[in-house]
Amino acid sequence: MSWGSIDRYAKSIIKEAGHKIRNSFFSHIDIDTKSDANDLVTNIDREVEKFFIDRIKRDFPDHRILGEEGAGDQVTSLDGVIWILDPIDGTMNFIHQRRNFAISLGIYADGVGMLGYIYDVMRDDFYNAAKGEGAYFNDERLPQLEITPLHEAVIGINASWVAPNRYMDNEPIIRMIRQCRGTRSYGSAAIELAYVSTQRIDAYLSMRLAPWDVAGGIVIAQEVGAIATTMKGEPPNLLSQDTFIVARPGLHEEIMKNYIHLK
Ligand code: IPD
Ligand code: CA
Ligand code: CA
Repeated sequence: MSWGSIDRYAKSIIKEAGHKIRNSFFSHIDIDTKSDANDLVTNIDREVEKFFIDRIKRDFPDHRILGEEGAGDQVTSLDGVIWILDPIDGTMNFIHQRRNFAISLGIYADGVGMLGYIYDVMRDDFYNAAKGEGAYFNDERLPQLEITPLHEAVIGINASWVAPNRYMDNEPIIRMIRQCRGTRSYGSAAIELAYVSTQRIDAYLSMRLAPWDVAGGIVIAQEVGAIATTMKGEPPNLLSQDTFIVARPGLHEEIMKNYIHLK
């Protein structure tokens, strides 16, 4: 099957899954916790993941799936075609706000991001990209990002990373926040990547993200010229949880050089 037909297929199941999620608000939603009391999951996260897995396994039996809720494959290498899926990114928003969450999907071939999707379900906003073919927001082509200095930049960052934490020195981060034009936090890494790609924010960083949080967004962001790396400056980690930063060119360098001091 060609990448064009995989792209059409992925778009159509993402829209179908979005419809299921919107309908879920008419039924009772079971809320559970995972690693700690604030790490939430619902029956809808699990059902939506299962919906994707059933379809992908039926129609692409030789592809693998890395999904947040664990019903997919045990993925320890990036060989072959892998669908990296977060059925609901921003589960806390899904539960508390009933908005500001997204379906995030990246399709990788031997570790190379070929197709990326972020679907902001309640706004019906669709972001997607195909490697080498540009990125789109609701079917409109997104322009390339230009250089913005930190003092004119809006930075996406969660307040946890401004407080003392075990991953990095927070003092330089406080200085960065004083230098930049403003900060925002949306509670969905996928939405923050979509916002970097559409120039609503200029950078997004987090000390702890999983492959499914960023896999779709990386493909989109790279198509508009954003730089996405770990905070060691390496390619984003698609096999395990790691640090992550995405920013306009220039700004990425400025933040990495002057404000990121890993412990
Ligand atoms: C979370 C969101 C959040 C980020 C967390 C993620 P989830 O994903 O992307 O913005 O700060 O690190 O775990 O659990 O809602 O899919
Ligand atoms: Ca997530
Ligand atoms: Ca999730």
